[in-house]
Amino acid sequence: MTGELRDHDFVAVTEAAAVAAAQTMGYGDRRHSDHVAVEAMREALADMAIDGRVVIGEGERDKAPMLYVGEEVGRRAAGDLEVDFAVDPLEGTNLCATGASDAMAVLAASERGGLLHAPDIYMDKIVVGPTARGRVALDAPVEDNLRAIAGAFDCAVSALTVVVLDRDRHRGLVDDIRTAGARIKLIGDGDLSTAIAAAVRGTGVHAVIGTGGAPEGVITAAAMRCLGGEIQGRLSALSEEQKRRLAEFDIEDPDRIYRTEELAPGDDILFCCTGVTGGDLLRGVRFEGGGYRTSTLLMSLAEGAIRFVETIHRGDNRGPVFFH
Ligand code: FBP
Repeated sequence: MTGELRDHDFVAVTEAAAVAAAQTMGYGDRRHSDHVAVEAMREALADMAIDGRVVIGEGERDKAPMLYVGEEVGRRAAGDLEVDFAVDPLEGTNLCATGASDAMAVLAASERGGLLHAPDIYMDKIVVGPTARGRVALDAPVEDNLRAIAGAFDCAVSALTVVVLDRDRHRGLVDDIRTAGARIKLIGDGDLSTAIAAAVRGTGVHAVIGTGGAPEGVITAAAMRCLGGEIQGRLSALSEEQKRRLAEFDIEDPDRIYRTEELAPGDDILFCCTGVTGGDLLRGVRFEGGGYRTSTLLMSLAEGAIRFVETIHRGDNRGPVFFH
């Protein structure tokens, strides 16, 4: 992102959402956690000197009064940079409500039209990192994909770890992965953070496969653009309500498989996520000495930069600061 914008402006947005959500960690109320994160993110976005628009957000305007798809955000003064946003103020609402790891506040930003405006339904996905990029196909048998990934890593299929959301709909997929001989990490929620893990060497995750949220799929694509990884996704409507929403989008081929560059085609993509509860990728919000501390991953496609931003928000703390 160029113009008057600084990376820090985007970091401040996910930090605000993460801190608000983290204050509700373990309260057992996922809706409340989500609500405070949405409010905080929206307030922070309103402060930015941009002409912003939400393309992936909290849903339709009538059901989501804040950060709904199509909402205009930012100061929107004449000459402000036009920015599209895909936001997930709290990815992993259950994770935050139960204090489980890997909840985070996320946004992807791009120039106008740089992020697909996908309906809030499901998406069949396969995600791999740069090593296995170009070797998998969403509609290929799982066994073939796993063999291809193992080939890319020059290892046995039995050395692979595939992340799958722990859902009934994935029983057949889990059986197929087990039959192929790969290891599985079943997760309760959060296929976005594990998708990032799949694109980073050293995390022990080689692929994420299965059906999750379509909005998370678009945001994952933005992250993959920055990391050189790959996502392939096909929209999937599992309920009547989702079928209705899909029909409203007037998509010519409902079986179309979207590639990374189709989900996030922008040239100027920025991806930013701040840990809420902490996990393999990021530490969660730590409240200390009257202030708090946040960990953020900020990636810029145009700049080719990946930054880890640790922020100490001193609050009322005028005592010593610990660099740890
Ligand atoms: P929320 O943050 O909205 O709770 O979503 C978490 C999540 O696990 C996503 O990571 C995933 O894509 C989606 O939900 C899966 O949906 P479902 O829980 O309906 O299977």
